[in-house]
Amino acid sequence: MRRIFFMVVLIGMMVMAAMPTFAAEQVSKKDQQQIMNVAHRGASGHAPENTMAAFHKGVKMKADYIEIDVQMTKDGELIAIHDTTVDRTTDGSGLVSSFTLEEIRQLDAGSWFSEEFAGETIPTFEEILDEFRGKVGILIELKGPALYPGIEEKVADALIERNMHHSQNNKIIIQSFNHESVQLSKELLPNIPHGVLAGMTWAGVTDEQLAEFATYADHFNPNQNIVTTELVDRVHVVGMEISPYTSRSQEQANRLFELGVDGIITDYPEHVYSHPVKSN
Ligand code: G3P
Ligand code: CA
Repeated sequence: MRRIFFMVVLIGMMVMAAMPTFAAEQVSKKDQQQIMNVAHRGASGHAPENTMAAFHKGVKMKADYIEIDVQMTKDGELIAIHDTTVDRTTDGSGLVSSFTLEEIRQLDAGSWFSEEFAGETIPTFEEILDEFRGKVGILIELKGPALYPGIEEKVADALIERNMHHSQNNKIIIQSFNHESVQLSKELLPNIPHGVLAGMTWAGVTDEQLAEFATYADHFNPNQNIVTTELVDRVHVVGMEISPYTSRSQEQANRLFELGVDGIITDYPEHVYSHPVKSN
């Protein structure tokens, strides 16, 4: 009898000890489902970055947003490509700004990644808007805007033409490492949320600087290596959200989640739990 009593007490203690862990996992899972899952340059761990294939893959993998890098051709057309030259991600070479749209469209933007994607082309900004509006959020990065005077106006015009400048409904966010460009874009599109990108040199960002960013930006998106819980809290105090870049492993995604970020910009959307409905 005494033995049974001790067994019951022991089992009870084991159950009690397990409860906090269980509760933490429940909270953790709930929070993680609300995190913004951003497919960086599309699902670029699985398909060639900044191509329709990568963007479609991001949608298929249930990302909340696709991130795109927008630059301009010699004849003033907006296109999606990351580097300021075409060398790394196409079969061509030279500055993006030295190609007309017709010329840059001839390049193969898929084979460098895998033969499976041979023939992928560099998409235009307008094609991306037309294909993905209403299907997924679009995080638009103005890449190297100082090289392309007027790029902010062209991006704004394309959104306004499509009636996509009314913010939340269409899930559009515009961001850049060039903070003057972000301010200019915000003036053109006051109802669209904007983001300030911050590389490693912003590791010592002050509260005053964050407060200044918050006068025109809703998002502060830093390199993941400068993110701490303290930085997350300070960004939240001034009313912005924080979505670090670029997570490329499950461990990195887990770390960012534990730090309490609002979103994760990742090459692998599967590393981030998304909305509960979506994850089924
Ligand atoms: O969205 C942020 C991230 O894309 C910034 O870095 O160099 O990949 O454009 P990068
Ligand atoms: Ca980018």
